[in-house]
Amino acid sequence: MAATTTYLTGIQTSGEPHIGNYIGAIKPALTAANSHDTLYFLADYHSLNSTKDPEKLRHDIRSVAAAWLACGLDPTRTLLYRQSAIPEVFELTVILTSVTAKGLMNRAHAYKAARDRNEAAGAADLDSGVNMGLFNYPILMAADILIMETDYVPVGRDQQQHIEYAADIAGAFNHLYGEHYRFPIPQGVYPEGEASVLPGTDGRKMSKSYDNHIPMFLPENRLKKVVRRIPTDSTPVEDPKDPDTSAVFQLLSQFASEERAAETRKRLEAGGMGWGELKNELFEVLNTTFGPMRERYEELLAPGSDLDDILADGAERARQRSRATLAKVRAAVGID
Ligand code: ADP
Ligand code: TRP
Repeated sequence: MAATTTYLTGIQTSGEPHIGNYIGAIKPALTAANSHDTLYFLADYHSLNSTKDPEKLRHDIRSVAAAWLACGLDPTRTLLYRQSAIPEVFELTVILTSVTAKGLMNRAHAYKAARDRNEAAGAADLDSGVNMGLFNYPILMAADILIMETDYVPVGRDQQQHIEYAADIAGAFNHLYGEHYRFPIPQGVYPEGEASVLPGTDGRKMSKSYDNHIPMFLPENRLKKVVRRIPTDSTPVEDPKDPDTSAVFQLLSQFASEERAAETRKRLEAGGMGWGELKNELFEVLNTTFGPMRERYEELLAPGSDLDDILADGAERARQRSRATLAKVRAAVGID
């Protein structure tokens, strides 16, 4: 067992990360690395369910890894690896299927949502379009977590059911084989309050699926354009404005220093500051924050960078843990 508590999370390798992902997931995960034993991995086999284009998947895997490293992940401290590089995960998945009730999977949100969509569309077969990867998704995720003897799993609220399933599956295993080996029961760690939910360029929650996101590594000229396009009302420059209902101000206050945000708040409330000026300020703050990271990101993505070596090294160190866990599990079930 690790000396400190183990934090593990999986990152889907789909699409370019945006500044909402940075505030909601990347930044807190990097902070946690200062005080916990951290393992962050790229859930590439999970992403295979949604991405059927090999070229795109290959690119996305490297792009997500480069993004985390560019944001400051220290690979000597945090194990960064690809799920697909840990064969023990897949062997454990098979073992876990034998202690997991099918009914539990029938109740999984993503699977139920697929059936509901089929029902609404009048399909005769409610399982139409559902592959086994989607159905088994929670078991693979439980294996990701349990193979590393994880204590805590920082994730968004949308993943809560998956974490509870991993805990249930660990409980079922412990109930049967606990005399020989027990998995630690993993717990989810969820973001608190609404403060960490960033609005997108249309005022709704920023999300790739709403196409209202600001990618983290946009080139300067495109970043400027995206910020300019954020809709604002037609309050004249001289009039006082409410910072709390402005998406531009909310974004600014996540990235500017406290003093600067307080100063801007005062100026908006007093009147005399126009939306255009506020947007210029947001652009400047975003560009200062992400500019240096963008350079590092591009370096890492270039062929011949140290990215692949970092991932290989992370996987090798992660496998020391996964091999040890799997050996105990196999012995516990009688396959040793
Ligand atoms: P998206 O909605 O863009 O597809 P994901 O669902 O892949 O984003 O989220 C990945 C991580 O980023 C999760 O931990 C999630 O909580 C966080 N996240 C996503 N969007 C936001 C947002 N607008 N504000 C804060 N955190 C976010
Ligand atoms: N399902 C997670 C998501 O969509 C990704 C993931 C896969 C994960 N395996 C995990 C998260 C294990 C935490 C732990 O975001």
